[in-house]
Amino acid sequence: PFEIEIASTGQVLTVPADHTAWEVLDKAGLYVPVSCEQGICGTCLVGVKAGIPDHRDSYLTDEEHEANDQFTPCCSRAKSARLVLDL
Ligand code: FES
Repeated sequence: PFEIEIASTGQVLTVPADHTAWEVLDKAGLYVPVSCEQGICGTCLVGVKAGIPDHRDSYLTDEEHEANDQFTPCCSRAKSARLVLDL
């Protein structure tokens, strides 16, 4: 599990191992558009202000993955205990 913090509100949500970050955001009423749910299309892309994503998409380039300033919540997770999302 890892935590996601919503930068605009300070709200902290926990992403359990059996749920995606996108599912947790959606359940909390935070709308992020989604399409492929497999890390291919980039529709769900969200900015990351702090923390290290565990990138599992094939949409971003290697350079974009290394920048760690955006991630795909439909499939990617976190290497750090918390990600602060630009939402
Ligand atoms: Fe397609 Fe997330 S919905 S990359």
